[in-house]
Amino acid sequence: MKVFVTRTLPGKALDRLRERGLEVEVHEGLLLPREELLRKVEGAVGLIPTVEDRIDAEVMDQAPGLRVIACYSVGVDHVDLEAAQARGIRVTHTPGVLTEATADLTWALLLAVARRVVEGVDYARAGRWQAWHPELLLGLDLGGLTLGLVGMGRIGQAVAKRAEAFGMRVVYTSRTPKPLPYPYLPLEDLLATADIVSLHAPLTPETYRLMDRERLFAMKPGSILLNTARGGLVDTEALVEALQGHLFGAGLDVTDPEPLPQGHPLYALPNAVITPHMGSAGKRTRERMAEMAVENLLAVLEGREPPNPVG
Ligand code: DGY
Repeated sequence: MKVFVTRTLPGKALDRLRERGLEVEVHEGLLLPREELLRKVEGAVGLIPTVEDRIDAEVMDQAPGLRVIACYSVGVDHVDLEAAQARGIRVTHTPGVLTEATADLTWALLLAVARRVVEGVDYARAGRWQAWHPELLLGLDLGGLTLGLVGMGRIGQAVAKRAEAFGMRVVYTSRTPKPLPYPYLPLEDLLATADIVSLHAPLTPETYRLMDRERLFAMKPGSILLNTARGGLVDTEALVEALQGHLFGAGLDVTDPEPLPQGHPLYALPNAVITPHMGSAGKRTRERMAEMAVENLLAVLEGREPPNPVG
């Protein structure tokens, strides 16, 4: 019985599969071209894909014996869930384990944008640091500002805790109000109120381009947008415009398209801090994600209910 793992994973979790007598094929490159994915998935009963792999009906039909897609991620927008359900394939994911790591990176981006850290590093490296000056590289003081969270699941709540520690006010929007110690606001009110808007919603047909041109320009002048969720939540072209005068800056760990191609106008904007989708990239977090994916996969193959099913 073959399990195909679309990238090497940190830690030793895959040994558990081998110990159970499963044949484990791991793709070792940074990139996995579509044709290779289609070829390598053949004959698999289990698949561990990353967010980089589009797992649709075509992939599933290459492996008629496929029983489980154990995503190495919490987000599952890269998997056609309906196609999986129609074929009786279970889909699982890794919620919870990457909450703190992703909240940490959200905070790192916020500090980097608000206090112009990357601009400062570039300035010093370029040999332009000649004197201390009262008006050099002025940024935003976070204390007293309002953070608006769009999506208030585990990660949104972990970001809220960090904001409290920085003396910020927190407001949020989500599909329905939750019993939380922060005011709930409809999205449009949140955009008019928040000094920083941070996105933590899943990407679905309903949330695609949630931050369109109108909403980006409805944000307060001089405010900051953070996105550590999914690039598709934001209209990238409109964001480029909004960053040229309307917004103070943006911190983006995810983009649309992704990867953001070299030469993209966003890279030329000093107030855009862009990281390569590394929200969960803590060593321990990534090892635990592998353990969860393996546990989910084994559960399905052994006829048990997986701990983290999707749907
Ligand atoms: C996820 O898990 O969905 C992240 O985007 C990658 O870890």
